[in-house]
Amino acid sequence: MPKTMIPAKVVEDAVHLACRAPSYHNTQPWRWVVEDGELLLFVDPDRVVATDHGGRQALISCGAVLDHLRVAMAAAGHQAHVDYYPNPSDHKHVASIGFSPISLVTGGHRDRADAILRRRTDRLPFRAPPDWDEFERTVRTAVDGDVTAVDVISDRDRSELAEAASLTDALRLYDSAYHAEMNWWTAPYEVNDGIPHSALVSAAESDRVDVGRSFPVTHNQERRLEVGDDQSTILVISAVDDVRRDILGCGETLSTVLLEATMAGLATCTLTNMTETAVTRDIVAAITGHPLPQVLVRVGTAPALEQVPPPTPRRPISEVLHFSVP
Ligand SMILES: Cc1cc2nc3c(=O)[nH]c(=O)nc-3n(C[C@H](O)[C@H](O)[C@H](O)COP(=O)(O)O)c2cc1C
Repeated sequence: MPKTMIPAKVVEDAVHLACRAPSYHNTQPWRWVVEDGELLLFVDPDRVVATDHGGRQALISCGAVLDHLRVAMAAAGHQAHVDYYPNPSDHKHVASIGFSPISLVTGGHRDRADAILRRRTDRLPFRAPPDWDEFERTVRTAVDGDVTAVDVISDRDRSELAEAASLTDALRLYDSAYHAEMNWWTAPYEVNDGIPHSALVSAAESDRVDVGRSFPVTHNQERRLEVGDDQSTILVISAVDDVRRDILGCGETLSTVLLEATMAGLATCTLTNMTETAVTRDIVAAITGHPLPQVLVRVGTAPALEQVPPPTPRRPISEVLHFSVP
């Protein structure tokens, strides 16, 4: 792997941008270390939530931040070369990344990096996405089919998926640990992680989205009444094998889908509630024909002139990036 010394400020700026990546409950379960000309990515066990059995959500989040880093560094003129799980005895060490120069940074590189700043998780109802076939073609060309599969939920299967979302809620009705954790990560404090109330929806808004996670509701005035019920198209990202590398790959694919959608002017909402319980995971698997579904994405359009909530907060860079002293 190339070991080009990149100026510290370039790495810091790229990691800062990459950390806009989505993560489970905005936990940001990652840690970056610059060492010997490489950038190392670790999953941070202190930020894996207790109900995230097997750390899947954290790994998907790390995959998303890894792909965001690739995009951020490309816009700065450096191609990332990723060595996955370079240390077989350390599963927390997700990747080592070396860099080589890109001869010309194109408008495409810059647009993709700009999309990182515009993307956000939108939990309100969407209008149907226009030009879906073209979007789907772009996504399929961009994703790594060796480790992940992408399926589109047909209109025929949509109601079954909505039933799976309701079933997830029913199965968790008495799951105190799950609810305590969600309340913690959505508590309305001024912090640099978790989901702020400005990013959540009211009960009436949530009722118009048939496939979503039930969060504590907010009491804002009902928004997007003109859209009516959600008309999004839903993608399912599945792992090819039940191994860390492929779960991480689902996070990279998630990043690709979200950034492609943002560049196409589409709104997105990441969902994993239906893949967290075995019964509903099996329902999703039966619909797609892929046995290891990990993450779903609602894709659609949001009214262009709407007021957008503030970006969700992130931890300071000094907490997530460290320069190793030789
Ligand atoms: C692995 C993973 C699982 C997620 N699951 C859900 C979910 O089930 N429902 C939801 O509304 N958002 C979900 N999200 C979105 C996060 O809550 C969101 O990324 C985080 O709060 C940061 O906000 P932002 O995406 O607007 O920057 C998930 C994100 C990731 C990466």
